[in-house]
Amino acid sequence: MGHRVLVVDDDPNMCQLLEVALRRLGHDPASVTSGSEALACLEDQDFDVIVTDIAMAEMDGLELCRRVAEVRPGLPVVVITGQGSMEAAVAALRAGAYDFVTKPVDEKLLAPCLARAGQARVLQREVQRLRKEVGGSRQLEDVVGASSAMRRVYDLVGRVAPSDASVLIHGETGTGKELIARSIHSRSLRKDGPFVAINCAAVPANLIESELFGHARGAFTDAKTSRAGLFVEANGGTLFLDEIGEMPLEVQPKLLRALQERKVRPVGSNAEVPFDARMVAATNRDLEAEVEDKRFREDLYYRINVVKIELPPLRERGTDVLAIAEYLLRRLAAGRSLSLSPQAAERLMAYDWPGNVRELENCMERAVALARFDQVTVEDLPEKVRTHRSDRLVVSAEDASELVTLDELERRYIQRVLKMLGGNKSRAAQVLGLDRRTLYRKLDRQNGRTHSSSSAPAPVSSAPPTSGPSSPPTSGPSSPPTPPAASASPPGPPGPAPADARAPVR
Ligand SMILES: Nc1ncnc2c1ncn2[C@@H]1O[C@H](COP(=O)(O)OP(=O)(O)OP(=O)(O)O)[C@@H](O)[C@H]1O
Ligand SMILES: [Mg+2]
Repeated sequence: MGHRVLVVDDDPNMCQLLEVALRRLGHDPASVTSGSEALACLEDQDFDVIVTDIAMAEMDGLELCRRVAEVRPGLPVVVITGQGSMEAAVAALRAGAYDFVTKPVDEKLLAPCLARAGQARVLQREVQRLRKEVGGSRQLEDVVGASSAMRRVYDLVGRVAPSDASVLIHGETGTGKELIARSIHSRSLRKDGPFVAINCAAVPANLIESELFGHARGAFTDAKTSRAGLFVEANGGTLFLDEIGEMPLEVQPKLLRALQERKVRPVGSNAEVPFDARMVAATNRDLEAEVEDKRFREDLYYRINVVKIELPPLRERGTDVLAIAEYLLRRLAAGRSLSLSPQAAERLMAYDWPGNVRELENCMERAVALARFDQVTVEDLPEKVRTHRSDRLVVSAEDASELVTLDELERRYIQRVLKMLGGNKSRAAQVLGLDRRTLYRKLDRQNGRTHSSSSAPAPVSSAPPTSGPSSPPTSGPSSPPTPPAASASPPGPPGPAPADARAPVR
């Protein structure tokens, strides 16, 4: 099998000779006359083997071996050493060379050496591929996203899935709690058993007990036959208690007992039935607060919460939004090849996603239906996504995609301060260390307007960033903001604010 070989020798004649020999041996050679050129080649080309002279002026073969090991670990380097120079050969091997051949290069010796080196490279690639596959499978099937927040979830799922520990998944609505519960099941030793789910919010309180624990025949009016109940149905598998926060208080002690004793007592029966199911529960409620408010039993809380997986909201997953959107496009587009326009992608990133992945799913379904050509454009997105402007502050962003410009950060901070102060602009100006007028101007600019009280139609951006010393935030709520000491613009509005500055602040 021919290999792609890079020859490195500072003697162009030698390069040529080697290239001819290698071609004769069925390989595909290229050559360069220095180590640095070789390294440059490796940046954008793939080779199976490097053959290099050891004695070169600028960067010798040993140094090249070391550098190759750094930039292309596993790429075999065969070093050509002077005849009889065992020391050089040993040094080369120590520097990471795969093998060496001595000068003058004998084709008969070079051939098997290259065959082995090339084979080593093939195996190396295979190992890398498998490693990637294994590593990749830590990324859960069907769960899209590689943000650091989600990687922590995958890691936890990977560690907890094979055990039988009870897991509590907490997350806002639509964050993928059920998806993660299924992932835990499918990565557990119980994966060939059933995954049985019950939504505690959807079953009427008077039926939930018989749903979970089963009932004897005649236990109540409609109980014409006996029924095993979900705990027993989940034998050998996983029981998923969705919306566990909605579990009626009166059922909670029975659930606790079942989990402790691993037996259930069907309604209307005295017999206890053992079960063998792993329990995964999910909730969007703050169960600790529920415990404090006595709406959820503390002992049950500790029983189900052996391991807690916190699912981050979509707005904290950076570019996962785009990865999921594209995944959904592929899934929903039924053979059509649809992509996101850059502007649509930008809008998806800017939106807050209160309904999380489920909302994104709805949004993409709609977009697929509306998209006219092969691109989803801003017009195909729902109004609220199109027009949304985030007021989230991202100063502690973990994903580079969450970073924003200083202008945007300023806008969000001003909005945040205003929101916290109930829209009181005078107070906001004090807190921000601005005079009121400057704040109005900034608000105007953010709302895409120029200041109406200014007679000069000068662009807003030409205004100074602040018009004089700012009033210190300590000046107290009642003291008026310090007027600008020297300003080209008229003094701050003493009376009512200019009409457009009083426009509602988003
Ligand atoms: N990371 C993800 N990648 C791809 N699809 C996802 C992801 N997370 C969730 N989904 C999809 O989003 C939808 C909502 O997920 P799921 O039902 O698991 O959320 P949930 O937290 O249980 O929601 P709810 O609180 O409404 O019960 C499902 O269709 C699910 O397949
Ligand atoms: Mg759910």
